[in-house]
Amino acid sequence: MEYNKTVRGKYNNERAIRKENGVFFTPPWVVDYMISLIDEQHLTSKERLSILEPAAGMCQFLSGFKKNKPQLFQRASKKVAVDINGELLNRAREELVLYGVEFVCADYILWNTEDRFDVIIGNPPYGIPSQSHHYPIRVDNQTKERYKQTLTTWYGKYNMYGAFIEKSVNLLKDGGQLIFIVPSTFMILDEYRKLRTFLASAGETTIIYMGKNVFRPDADVATAILNFKKDSHARHRLRLLEHNGEEKKLISERQDWTGQPVLFASEFSKALEQYCSLRIGDVYSVHISLRTPEVRTNPHVLKRASVDSDDFLPLLNSKNLNPGRVDYVSTHGYWVKANNISKLRPFFSEPRIVMGMGFRGTRNIAAAYDYKAYPWYGEVYHLLIKQDLFGRSFDLEEEDVVNFLNSGLVKRYIKETFREITYHLSVSQIKHIPLPTKKELENIRRDLNDAQLDS
Ligand SMILES: C[S@@+](CC[C@H](N)C(=O)[O-])C[C@H]1O[C@@H](n2cnc3c(N)ncnc32)[C@H](O)[C@@H]1O
Repeated sequence: MEYNKTVRGKYNNERAIRKENGVFFTPPWVVDYMISLIDEQHLTSKERLSILEPAAGMCQFLSGFKKNKPQLFQRASKKVAVDINGELLNRAREELVLYGVEFVCADYILWNTEDRFDVIIGNPPYGIPSQSHHYPIRVDNQTKERYKQTLTTWYGKYNMYGAFIEKSVNLLKDGGQLIFIVPSTFMILDEYRKLRTFLASAGETTIIYMGKNVFRPDADVATAILNFKKDSHARHRLRLLEHNGEEKKLISERQDWTGQPVLFASEFSKALEQYCSLRIGDVYSVHISLRTPEVRTNPHVLKRASVDSDDFLPLLNSKNLNPGRVDYVSTHGYWVKANNISKLRPFFSEPRIVMGMGFRGTRNIAAAYDYKAYPWYGEVYHLLIKQDLFGRSFDLEEEDVVNFLNSGLVKRYIKETFREITYHLSVSQIKHIPLPTKKELENIRRDLNDAQLDS
């Protein structure tokens, strides 16, 4: 009993340390696969070869390099491992110090070095840096400010892995190769649009989509391997591949990439785009609800077990949203005085389409018309018709839009275009969804299966 408690305590403690440092150890087959992506031909002609593993932890990638490409590893005149956690580095020291590996205990983003590298390979930490307990990577505000000053791609809720990518590209020699396994969110989310532009203008980008099995059960994250070559002659080249555990398949490639979101496409998604002359973003502006932490701090939100006067409205969330129907009842006991709702968000006092993004796998997309105009919080988005459609004609009734958004067509489109890249859909993804006019919807009904349209 005592023993079990100790073991469990130690396990939980280790888990906590791992979580705090963004540590998810890379499965050996992924390390081997990433090592196999190294462009050996390019390196054979190199006289002085230099390799770097950032966020090295216990140096899985340098060890993998030594195991899989022993001659190249021996030949490399500079081999560096950087990690903020000296204790982890120490565990690898014994094995690798004999091979001339230098160990640097430093914050990689703030690390100053004159060296430039031929290969940078690894698995950077994932997480939004913040002091808040809501976020996995604990970083104080001063350090975060220094990150922002050092990097050009920092934008919005930036993630540490984005910072590691920029820093690494800057540390590559011309012709150098960066191979990182990272969450696949940089492919589509707005937070990474500066990063995508940065990559597009610095060289050739290959993205190998790995899906969400790589770090299970430790982390439920869809990942991609970024295989980037710094080369001013190969700028704007993009290749998207998919790895299904056995082999990789080319999904798309282009020579004119300037940082646009990297999406999947299928015969079906392309067909739906052909039928629809518009996208949601052409017709609607898409707005977010009150964020969950705001609910606790906003002075207009009251937490009362029961507010029986008609002067108060319950704050709704995704639990109140069903396909085609809003349940106007309190689910969490948050209330707002009816004449204060526009102080939370100006559009709350307008009837509008609300759209909730279901949790992957368990819940699906749902849209409804909030005809009573209630206040909302959490992962529910609000579609407000634009005043100016810039000459485009749009004639679908709100009810038809809601039905279309709830249809199997849109579910399938989302699945085949965005895969499992994000946990929830974002504003930019919603804006991307195709939207038909009346005539186009008739054509879709005529040509496509009714089951797809109505399910
Ligand atoms: C995702 S783990 C990767 C571990 C190892 N590369 C692997 O593949 O198993 C992240 C590592 O990043 C380190 N780390 C976190 N923030 C860092 C920072 N700002 N600078 C350097 N290392 C950092 C952690 O200490 C941890 O070892």
